[in-house]
Amino acid sequence: MKVLVIGSGGREHALIWKISQSKLADKIFCTPGNGGISEIAECLEIKTIETERILSFARKEKIDITIVGPEAPLVLGIVDDFTNYGLKIFGPTQTCARLEESKVFAKTLMAKYGVPTADFKVFDSPQPAKEYIEAIGAPCVVKADGLAAGKGVIVAKTVEEAKQAVTSMMEERIFGEAGNKIIIEECLEGQEASILVLTDSKEVVPLVSSQDHKRLLDGDLGPNTGGMGAYSPAPVVTDKVFKEISEKIINRTIEGLNKEGLEYRGVLYAGIMLTHAGPKVLEFNVRFGDPETQSIIPRLNSDLLEALCACAEGSLSKFSKSGGFKWDSRACVSVVCASRGYPGDYEKDKPVFGLEKVRNMKDVVVFHAGTKRLPQSAGSSTQFVTSGGRVLGVTGLGSTIKEAIKTSYDAVANISFEGMQYRKDIGNKAL
Ligand code: AMP
Ligand code: GLY
Repeated sequence: MKVLVIGSGGREHALIWKISQSKLADKIFCTPGNGGISEIAECLEIKTIETERILSFARKEKIDITIVGPEAPLVLGIVDDFTNYGLKIFGPTQTCARLEESKVFAKTLMAKYGVPTADFKVFDSPQPAKEYIEAIGAPCVVKADGLAAGKGVIVAKTVEEAKQAVTSMMEERIFGEAGNKIIIEECLEGQEASILVLTDSKEVVPLVSSQDHKRLLDGDLGPNTGGMGAYSPAPVVTDKVFKEISEKIINRTIEGLNKEGLEYRGVLYAGIMLTHAGPKVLEFNVRFGDPETQSIIPRLNSDLLEALCACAEGSLSKFSKSGGFKWDSRACVSVVCASRGYPGDYEKDKPVFGLEKVRNMKDVVVFHAGTKRLPQSAGSSTQFVTSGGRVLGVTGLGSTIKEAIKTSYDAVANISFEGMQYRKDIGNKAL
């Protein structure tokens, strides 16, 4: 099969790393990819949002399946475009992608179908929103309806902070149209976990649980980022909790979508808060998580490409009946090494050292995110330079989370680039 993967992050490197082990994969393309991906796939210079160019390439090259990494092309309707031309593609349609694109859409669906989530109210003008904040008091959470590059959620500790968030989103319009509507919701407390499943709207095939680390600094301090590391499994998700999430969250959501006439195909990712009153949804994403995927995929002992094809074709139940996913019982930890300045303006073009030292380390795999591969020149000690905020996901397996933490940090100790920053406590919550 000819496979095309859309995206350029650690998530896509992890997916391609696994797909490249599939007997079904003859040739893999990635658009635009990154330095690490370019070692195992042919990278194209097309941006993820240039959906027409991606479609032309797929038609010309007769791609057998396209796998969409990030949400942007999904929201632009790339799945609908490919399907119109009879091309197989993994991911939800534009209408289904509203589950991530619009928090109002997601919350309204949850309320209608009894999916547990924080109590909320929707506002389309600032004054009533501020009056509501006065009435409920702090802490509370203010969320922009639309996509805001992961910055659209403010967990406000004071009424003033919450009202300021309303002003920024609705009056100063810092997120543009994404702030036309906002949600004010109850602040939930507990541990977070990410639950990802594959679904073709009839069958659900769960992936193993994981947990992201969104803050920049140890102890969950500092600003929010795209994710500074992840581990799998998340021990807080016991079998009992998982059953509750499956029944009350995943199944109800898919059934709700079906009742709305929306046949969801792809990954459904539920960001969950495990509260005293049970698991509640923080958000839905319509794609694989980043960096969760980097901690999930190394534990997968089955053919990922076969599963993604079955999902895209609507034959997941056949995949389940033939055994479904098999998982490695070991734990996995992925530590993100980021550039100085991230998540703000960051440095680039710094040579990355030590990758060759970790290449053959047992139970270690390094997924690239913001790297570029240089043409190999004689005498050069490095092949890669940094090109993004999050640079690498240094990933280790171990028989326990503790051992996986040690494996990944032993590998991190061999790697360096100027200004490299990383959290020292990825996985500690699970100890
Ligand atoms: P989201 O993009 O909706 O996942 O929100 C980003 C982060 O904000 C989440 O991972 C949580 O840490 C936090 N968050 C979102 N909603 C709430 C809530 N209702 N209560 C407490 N924290 C929240
Ligand atoms: N890890 C958070 C996300 O993928 O949105």
